[in-house]
Amino acid sequence: MPTHVIVLAAGQGKRMMSDLPKVAHKAAGRTLIGWVLEAVHPLEPANTVVVLGHGADEVLDHLPPGVTTAIQERQLGTGHATNVGLGALGDVTNDDTILVLYGDMPLLGPELLARLVERPEDVAARMVTSVFDDPTGYGRILRDDSGNVVEVVEERDCDDAQRAIGEINAGVYAFRAKDLIDTLADVSNDNAQGEYYLTDVVGILVGRGQRLQPVEATPQEVIGINSQHQLAEAQAVLQARTNRRLMESGVWMLDPDRTYIDDSVIVEPGARIYPGVHLEGETKVGAGAQVGPDVFALDSSIGAGSTVWYSVLRGAIIGEDCEVGPFASLRPGTVLEERSKVGTFVETKNTTLGQGAKAPHLAYLGDAKIGARTNIGAGTVTCNYDGYEKHETTIGEDVFIGSDTMLVAPVTIGDGAVTGAGSVITDDVEEGALAIERSEQREIRGYSQRRAERQATKKAED
Ligand code: UD1
Ligand code: CA
Repeated sequence: MPTHVIVLAAGQGKRMMSDLPKVAHKAAGRTLIGWVLEAVHPLEPANTVVVLGHGADEVLDHLPPGVTTAIQERQLGTGHATNVGLGALGDVTNDDTILVLYGDMPLLGPELLARLVERPEDVAARMVTSVFDDPTGYGRILRDDSGNVVEVVEERDCDDAQRAIGEINAGVYAFRAKDLIDTLADVSNDNAQGEYYLTDVVGILVGRGQRLQPVEATPQEVIGINSQHQLAEAQAVLQARTNRRLMESGVWMLDPDRTYIDDSVIVEPGARIYPGVHLEGETKVGAGAQVGPDVFALDSSIGAGSTVWYSVLRGAIIGEDCEVGPFASLRPGTVLEERSKVGTFVETKNTTLGQGAKAPHLAYLGDAKIGARTNIGAGTVTCNYDGYEKHETTIGEDVFIGSDTMLVAPVTIGDGAVTGAGSVITDDVEEGALAIERSEQREIRGYSQRRAERQATKKAED
């Protein structure tokens, strides 16, 4: 029987105390809704509808292609939202399975969902339950004397005895289509929150003598994120999963608890990751590279055998066997070819360093193309901005840029040329030439002696 999926994600998530819609919050590099859809994906559903409402536009940006969306204009409850989702499902036959779940459950795994949708034909619904040490905030499961689930009571509607129940409703259900559609019509909003609760469907089905099966899950799998605190907890679990996956593939990590790698990042086996490393977005780390301590890298790639430590990389491409840091900032458009080096307190932007080129310390290199084996002295600045426009600096191969050279762009330095330390280079330099721009040094003999004598005389007069 085909499976259809409805994900409820229209709520604002008031308890997050944030302007961002709840399901658009990220944990370990993916939005909450993204994690849920990732868990649903292996089921290969006939169709997946995400019900949006609060901040729909912001959530839409994070949805993968192939999901349908439906808008719940007013958040009248999970039962109402499910109805909105049903309206967008398209062709559904009576005996199909409709999986309904909430968009705020990022730890949900595909195995649990696969188990849930194996619904025997004579069972109207299967639902996930779990026993929590602290069930605060969740709907409680009521069972009869024979142990059959008979009802879900929301916390706000619980009496004291019900509130003491540790078994909770996880909020993941596999319904026979016909039964869901029929019972939803009977759900009222006569409860503490004045909402149409999807959970009421459970009691109605049981009242009609339909079979219902609970499927038990571990608390960890099914936590719903309602607060920043729970988001941080989920982030830690998801991060631990990613790190374990990477270590199992052969990545070395000194301290996985202090290593933060997005799910989207690729780290090849044999890479070595030290603590304090954040790898985000479309970042890639090659085999045998050493990253960290303390590196932030976004949408960057670090080639095999390279070392990057105490540095920030944004949109940078680092080739093989390069060295970066400590304390380098590589901004978008930075390309380091093989064996090149960007060292201490160097900032680069839209700049290529050719093979084996080096800028070991204290430099700003922007809008520059630097040839192979060229050495950039400490204190070098490409003066690329005249206050109106950006200009390019082109430096050939085997060039020696002396310390504290100001390269006033646009300017071109030929292959094998040398610039004298402290020069302000405004004109192009020919291949193999020495360009030096500084005033001649003067020397005034015996100066210190005369100054000391002057001071002594002055003191005697006072
Ligand atoms: C819900 C369940 C509760 C369960 C818990 C598990 C109900 C009535 N209660 O409570 O039994 O233990 O989840 O985490 O279902 N939503 C909409 N439209 C609405 C209301 C909510 O789309 O009108 C969405 C929210 O965006 C959210 C999900 O439904 O993703 C659940 O809503 P939430 O308010 O978090 O429900 P809980 O109070 O946690
Ligand atoms: Ca919730």
